[in-house]
Amino acid sequence: MDAAALLLLAAATAVVTLGWLYAAGHAARGAKKRARMPPGSTGLPLVGETLRLISAYKTPNPEPFIDERVARHGGVFTTHNGGVDGEDEVKKEKKDMVEELLEAEGGSFSEEEMVDFCLSLLVAGYETTSVLMTLAVKFLTETPAALAELKEEHANIRGMKGKNQPLEWSDYKSMPFTQCVINETLRVGNIISGVFRRANTDIHYKDYTIPKGCKIFASFRAVHLNNEHYENARTFNPWRWQDNNKLQNAVGANIFTPFGGGPRLCPGYELARVVVSIFLHHLVTRFSWEPAEEDRLVFFPTTRTLKGYPINLRLLSESIC
Ligand code: HEM
Repeated sequence: MDAAALLLLAAATAVVTLGWLYAAGHAARGAKKRARMPPGSTGLPLVGETLRLISAYKTPNPEPFIDERVARHGGVFTTHNGGVDGEDEVKKEKKDMVEELLEAEGGSFSEEEMVDFCLSLLVAGYETTSVLMTLAVKFLTETPAALAELKEEHANIRGMKGKNQPLEWSDYKSMPFTQCVINETLRVGNIISGVFRRANTDIHYKDYTIPKGCKIFASFRAVHLNNEHYENARTFNPWRWQDNNKLQNAVGANIFTPFGGGPRLCPGYELARVVVSIFLHHLVTRFSWEPAEEDRLVFFPTTRTLKGYPINLRLLSESIC
């Protein structure tokens, strides 16, 4: 989903906490004088710190912009990216997407437009899942012990089924290590790096006040890659999820939110897991592979591999599917 990129580019003034970035528009500026905003800088007039944000992400560090500010100010800070007038946005808040689109199109859509909007909505489910697949293959290739354990899990499942028998729900539910691999890929990869929200009321956090009207960016990546929550947080280690309650505890403590949370929780979260689990099953039981080219992860404007992580695939002569 390229929504993260769009959101980043659309951000006005921002403040970050422990993985939370707040964006304040003009509406919040008056309030700023009264309330104690979190420390930080709103940068240059209009562009704020946008250029620094963009240039920071040319490094291999997944979270350079946030890392630097967390080191300087702690987990809560103010920044300004983009230059969108927040006040106007607050006034438009009541309209939903369809109303907004209808107004822009003069009150009705053509059939072609309707198809286009539906397809755009589908992108939320397509791009995310395909990046998750690609990253899982990359991380597994770079972690042979994890790949070996995954192969064993799927060979066992295949061994209990007939040669061309399709997978069933009960098979999907018998893939504990696969789920560890998927959790860890989501945690390290941070396909959606975070989400924006708007403060509907003044928010008091520690000694700070985030004024009503601020845009708040909750950075999932800053939380997922925090060593206080995960040992050697930047290392791909699927075994860390092996404890049965680990996933439940991490979700309950809001330190694992790759699919968001609350009323906007991703409706496709289970579907994405099923699709990637089935993909991995067929990949590891039928093929071997090696990387075709050097490739690396990039994190801006969205998380992806620079070249799409091309691999050379070989069908196993003793394919067990
Ligand atoms: C790796 C796969 C996926 C990831 C990491 C992911 C992540 C997310 C996140 C973080 C949100 C919350 C956005 C917010 O709170 O503003 C979201 C929302 C959404 N996702 Fe996913 N998603 C994935 C797969 C899917 C799939 C497979 C579908 C559908 C087929 C889907 C459809 C949606 C939709 C429609 C929303 C908007 C929900 C709302 O606003 O109420 N996603 N997704």
